[in-house]
Amino acid sequence: MSTHGADAQRALRNVLGTFPTGVTVITTMGADGRLIGLTVNSFSSVSLDPPLVLWSLSRRSPSLEQFPVGKAHVIHVLADHQAQMALQFANPRADKWAGVEYRVDDDSGAPTIDGCVARLFCQTESLVDGGDHLVILSRVTRHEISDRAPLVFYRGGFLSLAERSTI
Ligand SMILES: Cc1cc2nc3c(=O)[nH]c(=O)nc-3n(C[C@H](O)[C@H](O)[C@H](O)COP(=O)(O)O)c2cc1C
Repeated sequence: MSTHGADAQRALRNVLGTFPTGVTVITTMGADGRLIGLTVNSFSSVSLDPPLVLWSLSRRSPSLEQFPVGKAHVIHVLADHQAQMALQFANPRADKWAGVEYRVDDDSGAPTIDGCVARLFCQTESLVDGGDHLVILSRVTRHEISDRAPLVFYRGGFLSLAERSTI
């Protein structure tokens, strides 16, 4: 399979979709006071010392300018009851924040959502070229964890790990 063209891109996407991931919603306060939020599954851990994670953002995203170096943002690891929220924050035409309860974090000024598995309060450390995406390296300044079951994304659909068996 060639690496160019729509068919090749779909084929690669299908292959990448066989790798199960968690699902995050990443939020920040826009420079103009607008609430920014988007669904992201490219989140990954990078480093403990210093504490770094990464995620990638499409270069076509209208939110591209919202994460400059130093910018505060919150990475919410979604729980398995939040699939609808994942879809809402993935739809650029929707009012992403309709019906979403949020608080503005005192320290960072970023909007935060409750009911997640974990929250990582971050600042953009650096921006790296990633082809049609921008790779955002985020420094974790604070974090919170709960014992909720995570939402999982696999082959284009959502799964729960609530009934998991340990291998
Ligand atoms: C499960 C899932 C994971 C996604 N992961 C990413 C991602 O890692 N990076 C990205 O740029 N878009 C990702 N998207 C698409 C964005 O959520 C969607 O394009 C969103 O509208 C981007 O926000 P924006 O409109 O502010 O650009 C994902 C969508 C879904 C449903």
